[in-house]
Amino acid sequence: MGTIEDMAKRRSKTKGPRKPAGWLPQRVTPQRLRDGWVGPSKTTIRLVRPAEADAVVDLLRLAGEEPEPTVATSIRAEQIATVLGRALDQTPRVLVEDLKTAVRNGGGSLLELSVGLGLLLVSVDDDGAVIGALLAHPPVGFLTQLEERGVPTGRTLAAYLAVAKVKALAVTPSARGKGIGAALLRRCGQVYWQCGYHLLFGQFDPAKDGGLADFYSKQGFTVAPKDGGIDMEVIFGLPVTLHTEGKEQAFYRWRHNT
Ligand SMILES: CC(C)(COP(=O)(O)OP(=O)(O)OC[C@H]1O[C@@H](n2cnc3c(N)ncnc32)[C@H](O)[C@@H]1OP(=O)(O)O)[C@@H](O)C(=O)NCCC(=O)NCCS
Repeated sequence: MGTIEDMAKRRSKTKGPRKPAGWLPQRVTPQRLRDGWVGPSKTTIRLVRPAEADAVVDLLRLAGEEPEPTVATSIRAEQIATVLGRALDQTPRVLVEDLKTAVRNGGGSLLELSVGLGLLLVSVDDDGAVIGALLAHPPVGFLTQLEERGVPTGRTLAAYLAVAKVKALAVTPSARGKGIGAALLRRCGQVYWQCGYHLLFGQFDPAKDGGLADFYSKQGFTVAPKDGGIDMEVIFGLPVTLHTEGKEQAFYRWRHNT
């Protein structure tokens, strides 16, 4: 039989429809996010735990960039996904209150909010070792830049609740090729879609790992051409396109295409 992840992987190789009409994924509860799901090869996929901070930071380095020091501190302080958890427990509408409070409080409150709107999923093996990790959060830098370029604040603020960036994804070399990276991405999408988000995107270096275009395409993402970007007019109501930095290439997926 295999796990749900194995079955989904097999299904993705068939030519038929990916899921029967009326099929809905099971709702994610905060408890499920903490306890996790069965992943490929007897792994568990769940929210990171405080004791895993160092292991996760080491793993995320494999994705190319040094993780910000705040990643480890917010894992230890259990701040990640706290706000998302409220949306999973109730309704995405509760996020609007969190956003309003952050705006009222000013200072670093929006940054704090984006940690609570962030997600750090890990894949652990049956010995409890972290063998995969995915970090996602609202694209704070991009939204700040848009505001500096004159996009009205109301629109950039609303995007904190609509757009999430896959900042880093990594699987330890000995565990690659078993579907763990795919499962982490799938669970990340499931959580953000349920929280009312519309767009999940990220960027990768096409010169690395033989290019990850195939990997992201297989997971249902669109890979933008090298000199292209992501048209976000539907989010901002203005002609806004996200262009990648340097040689990076963007990948993205809209909820309505899921
Ligand atoms: C990219 C990465 C996360 C993939 O994780 P993984 O667990 O090995 O991937 P999966 O086993 O879930 O692969 C799913 C599918 O994508 C394919 N795939 C995986 N890595 C690929 C790659 N580098 N290039 C092309 N296809 C790839 C697999 O063959 C598999 O295909 P299948 O469904 O037809 O069998 C992992 O290779 C990694 O950690 N790389 C280094 C860090 C990195 O570059 N991260 C991305 C930064 S944006």
